[in-house]
This record gives sequence, C-alpha cells and structure tokens, in this order.
Amino acid sequence: TWTPDSFVETTVAELKEKIGGEKVILGLSGGVDSTVAAVLLHKAIGKNLHCIFVNNGLLRKNEFQGVLDQYEGMGLNVKGVDASARFLENLAGESDPEKKRKAIGRVFVEVFDDESHLVEDAQWLAQGTIYPDVIESVSATGGPSATIKSHHNVGGLPDYMKLKVVEPLRMLFKDEVRRVGASLGIDPELLGRHPFPGPGLAIRILGDITAEKVAILQEVDAIFINGLKEWGLYDKVWQAGAMLLPVNSVGVMGDERTYEKCVALRAVESTDGMTADWVNLPYEFLQKTSNDIINKVRGVNRVVYDISSKPPATIEWE
Ligand code: XMP
Repeated sequence: TWTPDSFVETTVAELKEKIGGEKVILGLSGGVDSTVAAVLLHKAIGKNLHCIFVNNGLLRKNEFQGVLDQYEGMGLNVKGVDASARFLENLAGESDPEKKRKAIGRVFVEVFDDESHLVEDAQWLAQGTIYPDVIESVSATGGPSATIKSHHNVGGLPDYMKLKVVEPLRMLFKDEVRRVGASLGIDPELLGRHPFPGPGLAIRILGDITAEKVAILQEVDAIFINGLKEWGLYDKVWQAGAMLLPVNSVGVMGDERTYEKCVALRAVESTDGMTADWVNLPYEFLQKTSNDIINKVRGVNRVVYDISSKPPATIEWE
C-alpha cells in the first residue's frame, strides 16, 4: 500500500540512481508543490540541487524574504533573485489581463534563463508538476509543458527548457503531496498555504500596475489574511485574497471629503479551483476587517465582499 514514508524512500533512491552526480535546477515559488519537490530532491542529491526563487514584486507583503528565510532554514541551496523592478517596468501602462499575464510569463522566463546559466554544467530541470497538471496539460494542449512554451515561443526555447526534465511528484494528487511534505518534516503552515496565482497581485489589481498600487494591495491583503488566521478561519477557506478596483468613490474622513480606492475581498470554498462557492464569513469578522483596512490603509475608503460563485465568476477578477 502507498504511504508517504514509502514514497519518500523509493523516490529518493530512484532520484539518486537517475541523477547521480549531476546538477539540477529548480524554480521555487513559495507554494506547496515546488517546495515538496525541492526537499525530496535535496534529500536525494543535496547541494547539487540549485534552487532559484524569483521575486516578481507581485507577492504578498514580506513574502519573498519570509519564504526565502524558511527555505534557507530547511538547508536548501537556494538563490533569491529580486527582479521586482524588471517585472514592473515590463508591466507599465498595461491594463489588458491576458497581456499582463503574458508579460509576467515572458519576464519570468528571461530571468530564470539568466539565472540558470549561472549554474555551471546543469543537466536537469526539476519541476513540481503534480498529476492534475499532467492531465490538464495533455488534454488541453497535446503535451506536458506545451502551455509554458506557447507563451514564449518567440526565438526558440530558452536554454533551460532544453535540459532533461525530472518531475518527482507527477503521479501524486495534492493531498498526497501534502502528506509527503509532512513526512519530510516541512512546516505544516507552509503545507497548508492557500493557492496563489503565478502572476500574483497583478491579476488582483484591475487595470494597470504601479508600485504604489501593489503596496496598497499588499497592506489590505495582509490585514485580511492575518485576520482569517487570528479568527481561526484560514484553514476553513480554500483560497482568499483582496482585489484593488479601478474605482474611486466618495467618503468622509473627519470633516474632509475623500475620493479614494475601493477593495473587494474574496474568500472561496473549492476542491480544485474549477468550481467555487463564496464563503459565508461571520459578519463580525467582516466588520472588523473592513474597519481595520479603512483605518490603516491610506488611499482606501471602501470595502466590499464578493458574493459570486464560480461559475460564472472566476476566483480571480482577471
Ligand atoms: P480562476 O480565477 O480561473 O482561478 O477561477 C482558478 C485557480 O487558478 C489560479 N489562477 C492562476 N494560477 N497562473 C496561475 O499560476 C494564472 O495565470 C492563474 N489564474 C488563476 C487562481 O488563483 C485559482 O486558484
């Protein structure tokens, strides 16, 4: 029978056999899958695993440094690359959701390619692909990783995509990945993290992206997510986040009139993200959160709660 411990034992042995003394590159995202894949590989090949963690400037508040510290604490050989400015430059003035996604994907590939060239003689690219990703990419595009390629097929493949690919989690479902992670001793808080989209806060800021908008949304999001944790609601929700709307509305602050931004909070229940229901969060929690946001985050004077289910409303607003 399958157990997380036996999976770890067999997989580590297989990875040692397959990779031998060669070098492997892996992109860490801060999410569950890439982290578990990294720890498994690290157990098998140690310092020959070279992890790259890119800050696209669109992560949650303090997330880049916090997660990087955690990775270093796990003994991973990881390089943090702060490319925030490069991402922001490439997003400047762009409001179209798909063009924003494409720009982020393109810059990520460029940064990752530059970094992978710095690892001499790397032979392998490791990925945290899990079984649902395998099925989805085969059925949707006719082959694994075709989705990534379609975004970046100008001028041929980046060099790192020519490496041999190793995907130690490709036969596992998400809950199995979490159990394997627990068996590897990974922090339960990291394993229980909500899903977070690759393009990050860029698809939660409707319209064009500026550093100032990112900073506002990071504050709002931190108040919401920390509140969910404090109230014991975080683990009852599948995914939560805040959206910064391209709408100003009138408010009063003391005896001054304000004309400031509006944010929408979204929390959903789901099993796979394909369908989702909005969560009936307690009114007391929403009341406290709204007050905190409006009192503490400059530039926001109105908070709304999204009560739309998927379908038809997607989880992200872009
Ligand atoms: P939607 O908004 O389509 O999202 O209901 C379903 C799930 O997918 C995540 N999502 C993304 N993840 N790149 C990602 O890595 C993307 O471009 C992207 N768009 C949506 C979303 O956060 C939710 O978990």
